[in-house]
Amino acid sequence: MTLYRGTVVDTPVSPFDGGELRVEEDGGVLVRDGAILARGSFAAVRDAHPDEPVDNLRGGIVVPGFVDTHVHYPQVRIIGGLGMPLLEWLDRRALPEEARLADDDYAAGVATDFVGALTRAGTTSALVFGSHFPGAVDRLFEESARVGLRVTAGLVVSDRVLRPDLLVSPETAYAESVRLAQRWHGAAGGRLRYAVTPRFSLSCTDAMLQACGSAVTAVPGVFFTSHVNENAAEIAAVEADFGASYGESYDRHGLLARRSVLAHNVHPTDAELDLLAARGTAISHCPTSNSALGSGLFPMRRHLERGVRFALGTDVGGGMTFSLLREALQAYLVQQCLGEQRTPLSAAHLLHLATAAGADALDLPEVGDLSVGKRFDAVWLRPRDGSTLDVAASNAGDVEDALGTYFALAGSADVAGVFVDGQRVVG
Ligand code: GUN
Ligand code: ZN
Repeated sequence: MTLYRGTVVDTPVSPFDGGELRVEEDGGVLVRDGAILARGSFAAVRDAHPDEPVDNLRGGIVVPGFVDTHVHYPQVRIIGGLGMPLLEWLDRRALPEEARLADDDYAAGVATDFVGALTRAGTTSALVFGSHFPGAVDRLFEESARVGLRVTAGLVVSDRVLRPDLLVSPETAYAESVRLAQRWHGAAGGRLRYAVTPRFSLSCTDAMLQACGSAVTAVPGVFFTSHVNENAAEIAAVEADFGASYGESYDRHGLLARRSVLAHNVHPTDAELDLLAARGTAISHCPTSNSALGSGLFPMRRHLERGVRFALGTDVGGGMTFSLLREALQAYLVQQCLGEQRTPLSAAHLLHLATAAGADALDLPEVGDLSVGKRFDAVWLRPRDGSTLDVAASNAGDVEDALGTYFALAGSADVAGVFVDGQRVVG
């Protein structure tokens, strides 16, 4: 067993439901075989378990592992393309790089870069948009297993609109998706899971989306993920092609369910929000990407009012950071710009969105906060001595105030330790 000592901060009850930040200033968390056995003040937990070794995580804060609900593995090397809207950015920046993952050795290098960047950012669970190439998907799962991350991912499939080397037939998409799902869903002690992944309705025929529906039913428990309502030109094309709303283009193939996560949803109709709520589908809100590609400002208030679940996604490489701290800050900044339509967000809301809300969206009830019975997935954030974060956080009135400072100033460089299932994967 290990007794972790530090300032422990989490959100077991959603601040969107009136919950408050839970803070244990000099806290103790006792972990056995990756599970949290006891927690409380350090003094109380140590008195009850005086012989256990103490791992000192003092100086800074300990928060639940971050959950990234939408991030593209093949795009780690192309972050930072400026000045293009979605469809031009895909053609000129993203897809030429994605085509390079046809080479297994190239893909292996990208997988190492990608998983390393996720872990160093403090992300312990992620729903990852995979590659169009099965070998590259294998490389991603292998690297995730080696490092120990919780990764849900799959083969990206498309049969129209994209460059020809990224297209496959619906029959091939079905066969390869099911083969990969059977290999990886539930592997690495359940940390790896499969997600059926059509790129977006714009790059899929009805026959392809139907094949995806069949793949979801062929392997029980797999996830479904894609994009929705991101960009005005894209939405107009999807509506013209399908004669239906973007949301319905998935729903008519049975693709909206509780284990479905759709990225963006910047421009939904009320009817689509009601459909998503009825199906229990979660939205991945990707604010750095929405800002970088000029996609728009996320209507968080309408999602809350209509009961649609949402969490955060970095959407690298449309997004500009692997850090859920930076992504949460952008979510805050965007809401501040929405005037009367804004949802005011506190530091507790931001922490919740980066952790427990993500665990809920990815159906990972075993993580998301640091309660007894959960797995110990955690991040130790410790400001570098003398940094602006260090001086500003030290000057904060209380821990909640300091947490706001972390969201304002911290990033991957302030991640001093990362734990998944009680194993230290960074630091
Ligand atoms: N829609 C389809 N593919 C992509 C992608 O790679 N990034 C984003 N942001 N949107 C997409
Ligand atoms: Zn995306």
